[in-house]
Amino acid sequence: MKLILVKDYQEMSKQAAEYVIEKLLQNPNMKLGLATGGTPIGTYKFLIEDHKRNGTSYQNVKSFNLDEYVGLSATNENSYHYYMNDVFFNHIDIKKKNVHIPSGDAPDIQKECEDYETVLTKHGRVDLQILGIGNNGHIGFNEPGTSFDSKTHIVKLAPSTIRANSRYFESMEEVPTRAVTMGISTIMQSKEILLLVSGESKSKALLKLWENEVDEYFPASVLKKHPAVTVIADEAAYAELRANDRAFA
Ligand code: PGA
Repeated sequence: MKLILVKDYQEMSKQAAEYVIEKLLQNPNMKLGLATGGTPIGTYKFLIEDHKRNGTSYQNVKSFNLDEYVGLSATNENSYHYYMNDVFFNHIDIKKKNVHIPSGDAPDIQKECEDYETVLTKHGRVDLQILGIGNNGHIGFNEPGTSFDSKTHIVKLAPSTIRANSRYFESMEEVPTRAVTMGISTIMQSKEILLLVSGESKSKALLKLWENEVDEYFPASVLKKHPAVTVIADEAAYAELRANDRAFA
């Protein structure tokens, strides 16, 4: 894993966007894996700005999102479909037919998982997957204990994830308890991975990622087995590693 250390969230977002743009200019037909949550919002902002200013086009890009809450329709403001349209897709020229996100309200969720995996396989490997990391080390919604062999599947969200996500909902009761997520092996199929880590709350997770053995109880640790992972972390996220004098020791 390559670590790029930056000053703050803004700088992380800018560098991540520049990374994506460079890949996009090299390969305008790229298959881009996208993440939701608080972390990538700044990256999407920079990408939109670049699209408007420089005309970087997404006409031939195919996107694949990591996950979606079970029970929420695409029009529900808390769904990841809604989030993606709101923070990114509505502001660029990507074709809706090229956007792929699992359906949270499919009548048969198990079948939806299988269909999503089939779509991913059919398109071939994702060129660049953007990832965030949960405080508990989850990637996508693959919570601790998820098999590294997992494909797209239904997950029961960990209490810490439900708590972390509750900031977007009016009450705890509204936070979905299940999600559909690409599996760990699905994520590991990507040719390249860009992991974004920002803020003090992620500092312990970043330390564990660096220090821990590869272990299914810390899902992100699997990334150590991937040949092309770049981590962009800001100073706040890096604090624990610095205190332990690790990555740049
Ligand atoms: P966050 O979530 O970006 O909202 O912190 C990241 C994650 O849980 O993967």
